[in-house]
Amino acid sequence: MNIALITGITGQDGSYLSEFLLNRSYIVYGIVRRTSELYCSKNIKHIEDKLNLIYGDITDCNSIVNILSEILQNNKDFKVLEIYNLAAQSHVAISFDMPAFTTQIDAMAPVYILEYIKKLPLDIKNKIKFYQAGTSELYGKVLEIPQKETTPFNPVSPYAAAKHYAYTIVKIYRDAYNLFCVNGILFNHESPRRGKNFVTMKIINGIKDIIDNKSDCIKLGNLDSKRDWGHAKDYVYGMWLMLQEEKPEDYVLATGTTYTIREFIEKAFSYKNINIRWEGKGEKEVGLDDNDVIRIKVDKKYYRPNEVDLLIGDPTKAITKLKWHLEYKTIEELIEDMFT
Ligand code: GDD
Repeated sequence: MNIALITGITGQDGSYLSEFLLNRSYIVYGIVRRTSELYCSKNIKHIEDKLNLIYGDITDCNSIVNILSEILQNNKDFKVLEIYNLAAQSHVAISFDMPAFTTQIDAMAPVYILEYIKKLPLDIKNKIKFYQAGTSELYGKVLEIPQKETTPFNPVSPYAAAKHYAYTIVKIYRDAYNLFCVNGILFNHESPRRGKNFVTMKIINGIKDIIDNKSDCIKLGNLDSKRDWGHAKDYVYGMWLMLQEEKPEDYVLATGTTYTIREFIEKAFSYKNINIRWEGKGEKEVGLDDNDVIRIKVDKKYYRPNEVDLLIGDPTKAITKLKWHLEYKTIEELIEDMFT
């Protein structure tokens, strides 16, 4: 039988990946923090009885070792164990406020997991595959356009620095110990399950509140940065494909199209038949609707100490080698789904 262990199972990606794997008859284990029950289990509520949820914490090496030992103990005749390390402090702005916390979560867990796998007998470790959630934030102040697997990294946030360490450690364990471990370098991916403090969800929820007369306008930071946004469902499929390959390699998953935050705002309002026009510059910029009511304001509290200005990925390798494809082909389809 095929088994999967997902860290970060209650998050957007973890929940879509769980659905995907359950549909393929995997036995799915997930690590949940004690607080997850209280705050973030809504994404997996509908499949909770089909999952094997284990309390744990990826910053605690003992916890990881105990969980992995238990899974192997209880599934002696397993065919393959796929481990997806999706748990992270994934908010870039918050990483500037909590750099050490971010490093503990985002950098160290892969070491704990890979060290455990490394020490297993050969016949067992040969059946284990490890996926590390890498990120386009690694490109930072980009050194090439578009960004692909060979583009040099230039991280500019504590989040990206921690993810850079994790990316590197995965490569090292692959080369030095011949483990099957890969980095997915995923560009921004969104969905109705996206956390509400990421810019796309903040805009979608803000528009809903404006329409419901719960608020007048949305306050945002930098409107000029450009992102390559896809749908999370398509990206979890790509993660799985990476682990089905004979040879472990790193892959970029992206749409190859980029938009500014301003353009995302226009498209999201336009889905609700509201046109937005812009006046002013910088902190004074506002977005007005057809009745000249201000719907977007800039608040510098949402500016970041360092910004990643432009992300646009080249997914050619994933498309050709993995035969990866997008179900959600346009940003309009993504926005429509986010409004559901
Ligand atoms: N969150 C947020 N809130 N971002 C804002 C806001 C705001 O009010 N106003 C403007 N932005 C800008 C940010 O400055 C950034 O340039 C852009 O919107 C996107 O911000 P996020 O949605 O927070 O995502 P991110 O690009 O920083 O990071 C996401 O994508 C990465 C992959 O490239 C996260 O999901 C990361 O975990 C992921 O690795």
